[in-house]
Amino acid sequence: MSQRRAVIAGTGSALPRTRVSNEELARRVDTSDAWITERTGIKFRHIAEPDETTATLAAEACRKALEAADMDAGDIDLIVLATATPDNTFPASATKVQDLLGISGCAAFDVAAVCSGFLYALSVAESMIRAHSANKALVIGSETFSRILDWEDRGTCVLFGDGAGAVVLKAEEGTRGVLATRLHAAGRHGEMLYVDGGPSTTGTVGKLRMKGREVFRHAVVNLAEVMHETLAAAGVAAEDVDWVVPHQANARIIDATVRKLGLPPEKVVMTVDRHANTSAASVPLALDVAVRDGRIGRGDLIVLEAMGGGFTWGAAVVRF
Ligand code: COA
Repeated sequence: MSQRRAVIAGTGSALPRTRVSNEELARRVDTSDAWITERTGIKFRHIAEPDETTATLAAEACRKALEAADMDAGDIDLIVLATATPDNTFPASATKVQDLLGISGCAAFDVAAVCSGFLYALSVAESMIRAHSANKALVIGSETFSRILDWEDRGTCVLFGDGAGAVVLKAEEGTRGVLATRLHAAGRHGEMLYVDGGPSTTGTVGKLRMKGREVFRHAVVNLAEVMHETLAAAGVAAEDVDWVVPHQANARIIDATVRKLGLPPEKVVMTVDRHANTSAASVPLALDVAVRDGRIGRGDLIVLEAMGGGFTWGAAVVRF
């Protein structure tokens, strides 16, 4: 049925200049390439230099997404940026991105849902487009998690990386676009994955803390459920899916989740080996990789999913 939808008109991404391998990390942290590879599938992560921030990486990803969409920054009337590592406590990093893009006046705000932030941001932006509150939106996931890692904690610091991904959403009548999104949260699990500081509690930024095993267990169950729920809401079957673009936290979580849905591993975009877990950036980063290398093309049915601190989790079904 033809109706107003938010179509992904372009994708873009940005990575910090410095790439760090497991072997390099093992010189600074009590770990090994074998341990990290076997438990997570991670081989490399990019780490931001002081001049690279959440907002600068986001702006670079946006410029590439705008170019891919054949649009100017001036066409944009909404910017939604998902991040748990903003440049400042306020203003929202989205406003900094707006300024870096040389535009002014359009709505710009951040969304905080940690690793599922991009799904939350996408859902908000596409709802605003369907409600005629916006016509052309930048939806971004951008993070510099290296700044909130405890480099003495080998159980967490090896897992994360920095980066940004962005999509341009455009209002269009038709059958393409975001078909359904579903979002969830369970605040009672807050202590499983959190940062032990904040403006209103300690007055400090804090460091990431995680109970890895618990997160793993919840992730597989929640992600499989929300993917089922979102496919049903979109009125499509799992076998109709061309590509799954999952949150890139851990190859074992991804494998277990898609197996629960009965989807073959060939339909899964996997970038965790080269980016590690870039939190809110991971889904749009992986999407951009698969679009640019030609795997994902116009008309493909794709599923995006993520789960993160909160817990928060969500999925989206998109006719690309
Ligand atoms: N290098 C080497 N050894 C390490 C290590 C590292 N980087 N980190 C932990 N270990 C050790 C532990 O000290 C422990 O040793 P011990 O048995 O002698 O005490 C052993 O490895 C097992 O630790 P454990 O934490 O139980 O490992 P695990 O099998 O649960 O794997 C994770 C750890 C983090 C890889 C796994 O729990 C996981 O992937 N969880 C999900 C995390 C995630 O994706 N979070 C983000 C979601 S958004």
